[in-house]
Amino acid sequence: MLHTHRTALITGASAGIGREFAKVFAEHGFDLALVARSEDKLQQLAQELGAAHQVSVTVIPQDLTLDDAATGGFDEVQRTGIKVDVLVNNAGITFVEAFADSSLDQHLRLLQLNVVALTALTWLFLDPMIERGWGKVINLASVAAFQPTPSLALYGASKAFVLSLSEALTEELRGTGVTVTAVCPGFTDTPMVRNALADRDSLFEIPSFLLLDPAGIAREGYRAAMRGKVIQVNGLPYKLFEQWMKLQPRWLTRTVGGLIGRLALSEY
Ligand SMILES: NC(=O)c1ccc[n+]([C@@H]2O[C@H](COP(=O)([O-])OP(=O)(O)OC[C@H]3O[C@@H](n4cnc5c(N)ncnc54)[C@H](OP(=O)(O)O)[C@@H]3O)[C@@H](O)[C@H]2O)c1
Repeated sequence: MLHTHRTALITGASAGIGREFAKVFAEHGFDLALVARSEDKLQQLAQELGAAHQVSVTVIPQDLTLDDAATGGFDEVQRTGIKVDVLVNNAGITFVEAFADSSLDQHLRLLQLNVVALTALTWLFLDPMIERGWGKVINLASVAAFQPTPSLALYGASKAFVLSLSEALTEELRGTGVTVTAVCPGFTDTPMVRNALADRDSLFEIPSFLLLDPAGIAREGYRAAMRGKVIQVNGLPYKLFEQWMKLQPRWLTRTVGGLIGRLALSEY
C-alpha cells in the first residue's frame, strides 16, 4: 500500500538500520525527513530516494546529543510545514567497555542520544499525531533490552528504558489511532557493530548466522509498525533466545550476561 502525503521522520538515517528504514518508507510512498550529523550522506540519500520514488525528502543535519537538539529539530519541521506521521527513533550509540573504565562524558552522551533525545522527540511529535488520529512511533530497542548486559551495561539499560517506555505508551495510546513499536534486533551488520569490533583483537567473534541484515530489520520493523505490533524481535536465533530468557530466573540471565560480557572484554 502506498502512503502518499504521509511523512516519516527518521533519526540516524545516514547509515546502518536508519538508512534502510529511509529506503523502505520511500518505497511505500512516504515523504521523508532525515536526521543525522553527516549532512553530505543525508543529501546524497535524499537525492537517490527522491529520484527513485518521487517522494519529497527534507534533510535536517543535527547532533542529537546537544542540549535542545530535539526541540530544534521539531521547530525546524514546524517551520517547513511538515506533518510527521511516523517517527522512527533510530539514532543510537554504544561502546564495549567496563562501566568504570568509560568516561562520564561517554556515559552522558549515550544517555543523551539513546534516552533523552528519543524521549523528547516522542513527546514533541505525539500530540500532533493524536490530534490527527493516526501515527506510528518506531523505537529502536535491542535484544539487549531483555537482560542485563555487562560490558554494554549502560547501552543495555538504555534499551530496557526504550522497551519499557514503548510498552507503557502503547497502553496509554489505546484508541487514539497512534501505535508504538519497539524493534529489537540482535547483532546487525552496520557501522555500529563493525566499529565496535574493529581494530580490537577480540576473542569475541560474531558467527555469521547471528549477524542480521539491516535491510531485513527495516522491512520487518515497517511491517510490524503498520500492523500495530508492540514488540518486534528480529532473527530466529534471537527470538528463541528471548523466549528462553523469559523462562529463566533473574540470577541466571544475569550470570549468562556476565559470561558473555567477560568474553567480550577479554582481549580489550
Ligand atoms: N547494529 C546492531 O547490532 C544493533 C542491534 C540492536 C539495536 N541496534 C540499534 O539500532 C539503531 C541503529 O543502529 P545502527 O547499527 O544502524 O547504528 P550505526 O550504523 O552506528 O548508525 C547510527 C546512526 O545514528 C546517527 N547518529 C549517531 N550519533 C548521532 C548524533 N549524536 N546525533 C544524530 N545522529 C547520530 C549516525 O549518523 P551520523 O554519524 O551522521 O550522525 C547514523 O546515521 C541504534 O539505536 C542501535 O542501538 C543496533
